Formats: sequence, structure tokens, C-alpha cells
Amino acid sequence: MSSEKRKGKIGVMTSGGDAPGMNAAIRAIVRTAHTNNLEVIGIKRGYEGLLDGEFIELKPSSVSNILNNGGTVLKTARSKEMMTKEGQDKAATICKVLKIETLIIIGGDGSLTGGLTLSERGINIIGIPATIDLDFPASDYTIGFDTAINTATDAIAKIRDTSSSHDRCSVVEVMGHNCGSIALWCGLCGGAEAVLIPEMRADGDIDDGEVIEKIVLNRAKGKTHNLIVVAEGVGGAVKLAKKIEAETGISSRATVLGHLQRGGSPSAIDKMHGSLMGYHAVLAHMEGLKNKVIIYKDGKYDHVDIKTAIDLKGDFYDKNLHEIIKILSI
Ligand code: F6P
Repeated sequence: MSSEKRKGKIGVMTSGGDAPGMNAAIRAIVRTAHTNNLEVIGIKRGYEGLLDGEFIELKPSSVSNILNNGGTVLKTARSKEMMTKEGQDKAATICKVLKIETLIIIGGDGSLTGGLTLSERGINIIGIPATIDLDFPASDYTIGFDTAINTATDAIAKIRDTSSSHDRCSVVEVMGHNCGSIALWCGLCGGAEAVLIPEMRADGDIDDGEVIEKIVLNRAKGKTHNLIVVAEGVGGAVKLAKKIEAETGISSRATVLGHLQRGGSPSAIDKMHGSLMGYHAVLAHMEGLKNKVIIYKDGKYDHVDIKTAIDLKGDFYDKNLHEIIKILSI
């Protein structure tokens, strides 16, 4: 990063699905900004709040005692209006009227795409990738993933207790939108016999027949409990559990973990990334950087052009990890 510094007024918002660690990022932004005599305007409820004029002045004391809290103190939303040209024009005009020099957007792919449309209208955007899904290929990490994995793995371990007591098969559906990262990590950490993720479709239809065969074989080997993790992008956990029970006679139950995966106090890793990405976002503003996303790549914080980051379509399918899960569950 260059050493040329500048000052001004920045805006901050959280947008899209909340993620544990967003508060750490907000706190770091506000306190780094104030240390450098910058004003911070908090925009409530993401783009919805920007369009509806919901602003709040953020001082160092405004972010006291939020580091350990899940969710986001700024609240968040998914804005339909921001997906229209009129909404984007209005949002850019509001930023100009507010004299926001840099708008820091904390959110996932969709929220940062909204930021790109504002950057095309002359608003300087600095993005911070935050989503439990870990589906932003420009960055090796997105805030919230670690907490979500820990929460889901803990839930899976509890399901395993009851399920193995009953010699049942458990089918657990985890979040992740169209990405299988959460499912693969939960599969490995939960000791799953099989993991079904949407990326498998690249190799053809997902065959649940193979899963059922494996359960039958496991029974024959004396394994009485089976855990199948299904990613949200595959879905159908309840249907699969019924099919397993109908075809094998093995009592099966489905659990859809749902939004509990997005809540809870952030892990130390999420507090760390949230804090440091927030800090680097303010530094980026002070150095006069334009339209960047703060990323964590190869063990270091860096930045990349927002358009380059959005255009990067990642291949999230870690086939090797998938193979290892199979080996470890024999
Ligand atoms: O992006 C985070 C996420 O939790 C996804 O895993 C999921 O597909 C989506 O958000 C659910 O969104 P909502 O809370 O709007 O139902």
C-alpha cells in the first residue's frame, strides 16, 4: 500500500446475510477512523437503510461491547430496490449528498455487486467479504465462516449422540447457498460417511443411490450409525432420509440446521479477520485507494479491484477434501 494519506468522511454498512464477526469489522472501522480524525456514518439495514435515509453517527463509544456479539449492530437486509437502475442511481445520489468519500460495504458477493454499481456512479467503494458461505473466490476467507462451521459441527456432534444411540442414519442439511464449503468442512469435522454438495453436478447428476449403497455396506461391516451431510444447494434432506429408510429399512431422520448456523458469538478467528479487515479498509481509504475489496490471500491481507473480485468465478469444488472425507469414514 502507498504511504500517501488523506482524510474525510466514510460510510459503513452491513448488507445481505449477517455473519458473526461483522461487529468486529464495524468496531475496527470506527475506531481506526476516529484515531485518524475521520468521521463515520453508519448506514442501517444495508442498501434498504441507505435508500430510506437511516443514518447514525458512529463514535468510538458507539461500538463499545459489540466485539463478542453475533449478528450486526447496524442490522442488515436484502434490498430488491438496489437491484434496479433507479435504486442504484438514488443510492449513489444519497452518498453524494451525504458527502461520503468512501463507502465501506461489509457483505457477500451480492452486496459487493451492489457496491460495484455505486462505484460505476462515482462513489468510492471498499468492500469487506463477509458471509458464512465462504464463496468469494478473490479471498481465502470470508468473515463468519469459522463461527458457522463451529456451530454446525457442534450441532452435528449432538445429533450423532442421539442418532448412534438409536442406530439411525442422520441426514443433516447445512447452509451455503450454491457453495459446498460449509458442507465439506462439516462433513470432515463431523465424521460424515457422505457429503452431497452442489459442485458435484459438474460431474453429472448427484446419485443418492451411491449413498444408500454405502449405508447398506456399512451396516454389513457392523457400522450402525451413518451421517450424511447435504448442502443447501443440493437440498432435499427430508426426502433423502425417507428414501434411505424406505430402501434400507434403517431408521433415518433429517435435520435442517438452517439459520442457527448464522448466529452466535463470533469465534476468535472471525473476530481477528473482522478486526483486521476493518482496519485495512480504513487504511485503504486513507491511502486514496479506489474501489477495492480487502482480501485475505495466502496468509496476508491485501486488496483487489472490486470488479476483478466480482468477475472471478471460483471453482469451489475441493475434490481432494471430498476424497479424504471418504477415506476417513471407512
Ligand atoms: O449467504 C448466507 C446464507 O445464510 C446462505 O447460506 C443462505 O442460502 C442464505 O443466506 C439464506 O438467506 P436468508 O436469511 O435471506 O433466508
